Amino acid sequence: MKKITKAIIPAAGLGTRVLPASKAVPKEMLNIVDKPAIQYIVEEAVAAGITDILIVTNRGKGVIEDHFDHAFELETKLEGNASKAKILEDVKACSNLANIYFIRQKETKGLGHAICCAKSFVGDEPFAVMYGDDVIISEDPVVGQLCRAYEKYGVGTVGVKEVPRKDVPKYCTLDVTPLEDNVMSVHNIIEKPTPEEILSCYSILGRVVLPPEIFDLIEQTPPDPKSGEVYLTDAMCELAKQGKLTAVDFNGTRYDMGNKLGIMKANVEVALTHDEIGEDFKAYIKDLAQTL
Ligand code: UTP
Repeated sequence: MKKITKAIIPAAGLGTRVLPASKAVPKEMLNIVDKPAIQYIVEEAVAAGITDILIVTNRGKGVIEDHFDHAFELETKLEGNASKAKILEDVKACSNLANIYFIRQKETKGLGHAICCAKSFVGDEPFAVMYGDDVIISEDPVVGQLCRAYEKYGVGTVGVKEVPRKDVPKYCTLDVTPLEDNVMSVHNIIEKPTPEEILSCYSILGRVVLPPEIFDLIEQTPPDPKSGEVYLTDAMCELAKQGKLTAVDFNGTRYDMGNKLGIMKANVEVALTHDEIGEDFKAYIKDLAQTL
């Protein structure tokens, strides 16, 4: 099977849970220590061998494009200062990570609708979807773990983790049976279930790899009557019912950059292992903890 080389990063949501921070700055651009969330996601994709990335944006998200572009004035200034060589290298690296393309979702009509904006970019091959507000830190890039499952079983696959039962209604719930190691077959998915509807505590968190036939399924998916949004989960549920979906209980630590607590956890944990500030930050946290 041909290697998966394309990924979509949907980043056109309104980010209402992190307002007012996300009023003028897209939530995908909120930082974890010294890099915006979306850069971690692009780096994960590149580490897994993905070469072409389409970022779905909307009005007001132009800074995402700027971040992955050259910044000539800044780079020229830094070039003239030998002590800033490492900073220059980091700044330049952002614009050379991968082939990055952009498309606008003209109306915020849900994740399923955002994915459909990428139809012509994807063409007739499997592709990864990496949710723009889910940063996952892992030695073995999680999107790569999913691509391997796709390449092995030849069907779509979703990245899952068990979440506390009380949190399942915020996400989705999956009916699964074991296949091998950390891979399962998926038979049904319910988006934002009521407590009575919970099928298991496995929820889809941030990464999926899908076949191109998903586009037809999304187009046949009616919008949710309450929110008016087209859910990607509904289309993936169709794949599950046809016996064409697996789930990978991935290895990695996931941070939800779409809510305030997730942003703080990401910053604290990444700062603790950061090359430049890790040791000082750890000392600070230890002192602070004694006062709590
Ligand atoms: P979320 O549902 O977490 O994003 O979508 P949101 O709508 O911004 O969240 P809140 O509830 O208002 O805080 C998951 C991912 O899908 C993207 C988001 O940008 C996020 O990265 N998305 C969502 C789109 O690209 N388009 C949409 O219409 C909806």
